[in-house]
Amino acid sequence: MAKEILLTGDRPTGKLHIGHYIGSLKNRVKLQNSDKYEPYIMIADTQALTDNARNPEKIRNSLVQVALDYLAVGIDPAKSTIFVQSQIPALFELTAYYMDLVSVARLERNPTVKSEIQQKDFKDSIPVGFLNYPVSQAADITAFKATIVPVGDDQEPMLEQTREIVRSFNRIYGKEVLVEPKGYFPAKGHGRLPGLDGNAKMSKSLGNAIYLADDAETVKKKVMSMYTDPNHIHVEDPGQVEGNTVFTYLDVFDPDKDKVAELKEAYQKGGLGDVKIKRYLNQVLEAELAPIRQRREEYAQDLDSVYEMLLEGSKKANEKANQTLQEVRSAIGLNYFDR
Ligand code: TRP
Repeated sequence: MAKEILLTGDRPTGKLHIGHYIGSLKNRVKLQNSDKYEPYIMIADTQALTDNARNPEKIRNSLVQVALDYLAVGIDPAKSTIFVQSQIPALFELTAYYMDLVSVARLERNPTVKSEIQQKDFKDSIPVGFLNYPVSQAADITAFKATIVPVGDDQEPMLEQTREIVRSFNRIYGKEVLVEPKGYFPAKGHGRLPGLDGNAKMSKSLGNAIYLADDAETVKKKVMSMYTDPNHIHVEDPGQVEGNTVFTYLDVFDPDKDKVAELKEAYQKGGLGDVKIKRYLNQVLEAELAPIRQRREEYAQDLDSVYEMLLEGSKKANEKANQTLQEVRSAIGLNYFDR
């Protein structure tokens, strides 16, 4: 049976953190290793440029960092094609054709783009490319005829936009050229890891993240500084576990659920100190992060090979995307010289 095509990606605006790991990377590795899919993993540098056009160094430097993070968590180039968005010219051309099928008003209604616009404070100078990135994301997905797209919950509007484009295209040009994708979302409770400071979102810009590349000492320092229950002042006081970041992380990372239940009970009763639970969380995190960190360091010894892997992946991705582009051109009728 032909394998379903899986595609996903990340913007290279910095190193990836454990929020990415929980929300997305871990799932990808699981799907990759199930051998049911043909995975394509894209480093979305062009998309990252849509709001970083004046800061290309950041994107350039982050590219290899993201590739190292992928390799470190177990994305295996023998099973998954890892490639670079800007190196696939067909994506730009597909984007151009799809832009004609989508109204400006429709793009302005995209809730994820809307909240990003507010956050980024573009004021009246929203870059055209930024507003349009859901269309370019439709090109990313359809170029590979991907049917499964593992992403965070905030990406659902991009998938909806993609499905609309697929339906319009196939209807208008009278051929079933493009394929509708489905999202694959994280399990409940694993979608979004809060930041170290208790903020709902772990993010680089909020400075509340633990990176996959952080060394053991840094992770420990960050864990010891984590937000807990602000009213839990003395060890003997009863503490709150809801909204307590340390317990949220334990729920996500600790495979020993009985132990977590026990700790929660003790904490709520009083007599269990923050320092103690933080030390325990640090051990739990180390068990998961130490092997990742070690692999990352090994790959980082040989960056030439990492770039070579990206080049190979991009070549393979180009072949696939070019094939779809030819079908798209013919469907529209731009294949004048095929006679
Ligand atoms: N928008 C995605 C993010 O912010 C990255 C991305 C770009 C993507 N193109 C994609 C994800 C195609 C899935 C499919 O993380």
